[in-house]
Amino acid sequence: MPSRHGIDLTGICQIMSRKQIRSIMECTARINLWSGAVSSGKTIASLLALLFAVVRAPNNGLIFIVGRSLQTVERNIIEVLMQPAGPFGPFARYISHTRGATTASIFGRTVHLIGASDVRAEGRIRGATAALIYVDELTLIPEAFFTMCLSRLRVPGAKLLATTNPDGPSHWVRKNFMLRVDSLDMRQWHFVLDDNPSLTEDYKAAVKTEYTGLFYDRFILGRWCLAEGAVYSSWTPSYHVVTELPPIDAYLGLGIDYGTVNPFAAEVLGLGRDGILYLTNELYYDSKARRRELSDHEYSEQLRDFLAGIEQPHTRQRGVSPQWTIVDPSAASFRIQLYKDGINAVLANNEVMRGIRTVSSLLATGRLRVHASCTGWINEIPGYSWDPTAAEAGFDAPIKAADHALDAGRYAAVTTEAMWRYRITDPVPLPSTVGS
Ligand SMILES: Nc1ncnc2c1ncn2[C@@H]1O[C@H](COP(=O)(O)OP(=O)(O)OP(=O)(O)O)[C@@H](O)[C@H]1O
Ligand SMILES: [Mg+2]
Repeated sequence: MPSRHGIDLTGICQIMSRKQIRSIMECTARINLWSGAVSSGKTIASLLALLFAVVRAPNNGLIFIVGRSLQTVERNIIEVLMQPAGPFGPFARYISHTRGATTASIFGRTVHLIGASDVRAEGRIRGATAALIYVDELTLIPEAFFTMCLSRLRVPGAKLLATTNPDGPSHWVRKNFMLRVDSLDMRQWHFVLDDNPSLTEDYKAAVKTEYTGLFYDRFILGRWCLAEGAVYSSWTPSYHVVTELPPIDAYLGLGIDYGTVNPFAAEVLGLGRDGILYLTNELYYDSKARRRELSDHEYSEQLRDFLAGIEQPHTRQRGVSPQWTIVDPSAASFRIQLYKDGINAVLANNEVMRGIRTVSSLLATGRLRVHASCTGWINEIPGYSWDPTAAEAGFDAPIKAADHALDAGRYAAVTTEAMWRYRITDPVPLPSTVGS
């Protein structure tokens, strides 16, 4: 399909699946939504649709690409479009962007990049007239922001393209748009793994083992289902709890959930020689049970004694120094105390859903196990469940109960991900009795 700029986008259509092509051809409504499973080809299809739309966009309106933050827009959209070896390789030279800049150029048109979480960026779209808006990860954008985006589509032929993974059934995207598709000027496509022609059967099988429970239903089946029941549904003590550790090749992290009135928990994460991650040791202090609150200084001392006393399995060595000490972001004072005591701690990545998804996937694929001495974690995990009130209100959250050791372990696992991601074993399907 040669455009009026002489750019031929037809070739790329030849490598698309039927669903991808259909969605690209049919996205003529005011709101066009690609939703469904992970890696199912939504972004690639919608980006090709975006390229077509940029070429045809009316000149009397601006073009916006919206994401959670400028960084996610750059990573998920602009970098994908600019990759010379990617599906859009032939067009990479028509796209330019300098990292950190708030605009890009696509086929000579200026495209404004907006992070929805950035208040100043929001101002740039608030007063504008838009011809075309692309929204990445729609469920992660506030509804008010999305409503404002729609109100900007003021020129004839203006349209919005968006992609998303499923969320809960009460999420505003589903309730206020997807379920009302017949009464809106809207089209939507549901994508599953088979709609991505580039995935091998082996890859699809591997991805499927990485998700269980809620995450399987949402990210593999693409269902908008309720977060209910146990958060870590594959947890099976007889499988996940070990009494013997293998040699630990690297002590990657020490995750700390700080509490003075609430319990204080610290979990050591190690990478075993067998390519499995282990929570090897735990420090758990419950001030209520012990009837004494500790000061930051005392906690720091306890922590250092705890690390110094750890016996490394299969060696004669005592004492470990995890590569990263990771404290929860609200524990600024404790971090200063640690610094005074010679421990340079970093703040944990506390994106709860992302963290839960990572830990859940590690447990479900047999790549995270827990030593029997980590009793805080082992005691907390069975009661860790999704909050039905939050689910009804349209968002996912675990019930805020005893989750201190769990948070500490989550911080350690998520914050060190870059260090273990390519070093752990391939996913192991759990025995069929596990998690049932
Ligand atoms: N038609 C295609 N030809 C070649 N590669 C493709 C095609 N469709 C998708 N891919 C590749 O498959 C991978 C996943 O596709 P994509 O990013 O579009 O999935 P997605 O549904 O947006 O996933 P997520 O929900 O995780 O964002 C990417 O590496 C992408 O380049
Ligand atoms: Mg995507």
